[in-house]
Amino acid sequence: MRIIAVANQKGGVGKTTTAINLGAGLAALGSRVLLIDLDPQGNASTGLGIEPEDRELTTYDLLLEGRDLADVVRNTDVNNLDIAPASSDLSSVDIELVKIEHRTRLLRNALKKASDDGSSYDFVLIDCPPSLSLLTVNAMIAANSVLVPLQSEFFALEGLSQLMLTVRQVRQSANTDLRIEGVVMTMFDGRNRLAQQVEQDARDTLGELVFRTVVPRNVRISEAPSYAQSVLDYDPNSKGSLAYRALAREILERARPETAEQN
Ligand SMILES: Nc1ncnc2c1ncn2[C@@H]1O[C@H](COP(=O)(O)OP(=O)(O)OP(=O)(O)O)[C@@H](O)[C@H]1O
Ligand SMILES: [Mg+2]
Repeated sequence: MRIIAVANQKGGVGKTTTAINLGAGLAALGSRVLLIDLDPQGNASTGLGIEPEDRELTTYDLLLEGRDLADVVRNTDVNNLDIAPASSDLSSVDIELVKIEHRTRLLRNALKKASDDGSSYDFVLIDCPPSLSLLTVNAMIAANSVLVPLQSEFFALEGLSQLMLTVRQVRQSANTDLRIEGVVMTMFDGRNRLAQQVEQDARDTLGELVFRTVVPRNVRISEAPSYAQSVLDYDPNSKGSLAYRALAREILERARPETAEQN
C-alpha cells in the first residue's frame, strides 16, 4: 500500500483535482485506490458524487471517534476507486485536538489498524486542505510520500520552500521515511510566457522531482466535478484526461521497490 499525501498550503492550486483524477487514472490502470478526503471543504467527496447530506460517517469519525476505515469508506462510480468522505466537522479538528496526545498520528494509526484488519489498497491518496495545519501534518505522518501540485504562476515557488520545510520537520520527527513523490505542474497554459518561466524555474530548482507530465489548463477538467465525474469519464479524450492518465503511468513507473536513497 502506497500512501500519498496531495499537499500544498496554497489554495486552489489543483490538489483536489489531482487527487480525484490521478486516483481515477491509477484505478483505470488496474490499481485499487482509496481517496481520503481530509479537507473540511469536502470538495473531493462532492466531486465524486457523495453529497453532504449523504455523508453519514466521515474522516472526522475516522480521526476523532475511533471508527474503522471500513465503516467510513464508500464506493464511487469509478471502478476500483473508493472514497473516505469529509464533512465540515473536520474544521474543528485543530481546536479539538489540542488536548489529545498523539494528535498528529491519528490518521497513521487509523490506516495501520485498517491494514492490520486486512484492508488492501494499492494506493491511498490523501486530499489535504490548503494549510499546514494538524490535518496536513496528520497526512504527512501517515504517508509514504508527498505529491505537490504547483500552479504555474508567479508566487508558486515561494510557497514551496515552506512546504518542503514542513516535510523535513516531519521527516526528522515522526516519519523518517517520508519522501517527495514529485511536483506536478497544474493549470499550465503553454502560450503564457510566465507559465513557461515558472515551469523552467521549477525544473532548474527541483530537477527530477518535477514530473515530466504537465497538466494543462483545460475546461473539461473544471467541468467534470459538477457532473460528479472524473475527467477520465467525463471526457476520456480531452487533454486533461490524457494528462492525468500520463501522470498515473509516470507514478507507476516510479513505484519500483524502494531503496534507502532519499531526495
Ligand atoms: N488543469 C485545470 N484546468 C482547468 N481548471 C482547473 C484545472 N485544475 C484545477 N482546476 C480548477 O481550479 C479550481 C481549483 O482546483 P482545486 O479545487 O483542485 O484546487 P485545490 O488546491 O484543491 O483547492 P483548495 O486549496 O481550495 O482545496 C477548481 O475550480 C478546479 O476545477
Ligand atoms: Mg481542495
